[in-house]
Amino acid sequence: MTGLVVLGSTGSIGQQALEVVRAHPEQFRVVGLAAGRNLDLLGRQVEEFRPLYVSAPALKEGSIWKESRVRSLVALCEMPEVDRVLVATVGATGLLPTLAAIRAGKVVALANKEVLVMAGALVMREARAVNVPILPVDSEHNALWQCLMGDCDLSPGQTRGPIQRVILTASGGAFRDWPLEKLREVTPAEALAHPTWVMGPKVTIDAATLINKGFEVIEAHWLFGLPYEQIDVVLHRESVVHALVEFTDGSFRAELGPPDMRIPIQHALTYPRRLPGPWRRLQLAELGKLNFAPLDRARYPCFDLALAAARTDGTATAALSAADDVAVQKFIRGEIAFTDIPALIDAALQAHRPIADPSVEEILEVDAQVRRFLEGSRAAGTPRA
Ligand SMILES: NC(=O)c1ccc[n+]([C@@H]2O[C@H](COP(=O)([O-])OP(=O)(O)OC[C@H]3O[C@@H](n4cnc5c(N)ncnc54)[C@H](OP(=O)(O)O)[C@@H]3O)[C@@H](O)[C@H]2O)c1
Repeated sequence: MTGLVVLGSTGSIGQQALEVVRAHPEQFRVVGLAAGRNLDLLGRQVEEFRPLYVSAPALKEGSIWKESRVRSLVALCEMPEVDRVLVATVGATGLLPTLAAIRAGKVVALANKEVLVMAGALVMREARAVNVPILPVDSEHNALWQCLMGDCDLSPGQTRGPIQRVILTASGGAFRDWPLEKLREVTPAEALAHPTWVMGPKVTIDAATLINKGFEVIEAHWLFGLPYEQIDVVLHRESVVHALVEFTDGSFRAELGPPDMRIPIQHALTYPRRLPGPWRRLQLAELGKLNFAPLDRARYPCFDLALAAARTDGTATAALSAADDVAVQKFIRGEIAFTDIPALIDAALQAHRPIADPSVEEILEVDAQVRRFLEGSRAAGTPRA
């Protein structure tokens, strides 16, 4: 039995992870659950899974809540009963718990991609030092990992093998077919409706601006230790092929599946075993054909901003992640237009002076500085109406 902690159990990934646990109750002991504000749902999950430990900002550390002991997010990851930690929080929240889990020698299943965007060099260095695997939950990276297996040595952050390049697929998000001049009028409700995936709010907006794909390029760079020149992105509307590897002999390998996060979540929670999945299967004959096309870069300025930050050493990508977080929250609150999101991120990146080889404290300080800068008046953007 795997002693499992789910950080972000009330979110989209967290709830789907608990569906995986329900499908295979003999495989998991839920040792800990952590949530943000949704104490109602967390309470129901606690009653169902009876975790030893629980964590939420509103609960007092050391107290007992519904028969579970309250721990900090970091302490939850270090408990001796824990084997595997699913990091399914969003934004900067997952950074310290991920580092704590690695240092405690726990296997980390990582969904919270911003952790690697903010601090990929540091996190992978620590994982290598203690030889703790970081198992990718993000569908594209989980797919790459499956495609690389067999031909490559997959030590943490250092893939060695006959790889020509890897290719991440992108659905293009909610506005892939909208006229460019109409993007300024996009409402939060429209941006929150993804054409193929059902996900939490931030990642759905990130998919609409395509900064999510920029984050995923950065994530792939750190997870697999591949140079940026070897990571390509292609538009693929159906979200059925999640990623591909081109090998040096000209052969391609792709991973396919329905757009259902329970599949990569289950793979990361049960690896190296592959358990049956009671989910709806891909029907190739129903699909008929799969489409691939180049990205229309003019449509997605956030993607280029992410790649530019990626090519700048040090804390530039931590600034990128914080700036995007603030810009997305401002857009959801109706304070800025959809097309102001790249402008805010650009303003933050222009103002940022990157620190080379940063410590975790320096990364968190950059995160806080960028948030203060963008919440202030100088780069506040323009209201939508
Ligand atoms: N959803 C997907 O299909 C998908 C696919 C690939 C990658 N990802 C990545 O996975 C991560 C999670 O995405 P999501 O869509 O599941 O996000 P989400 O639905 O917004 O869930 C975020 C979770 O984090 C929790 N949280 C927030 N603050 C917290 C805190 N201080 N302590 C503990 N928990 C806290 C939230 O709790 P409350 O709800 O209780 O406030 C919620 O459970 C993101 O980085 C995303 O990019 C998601």
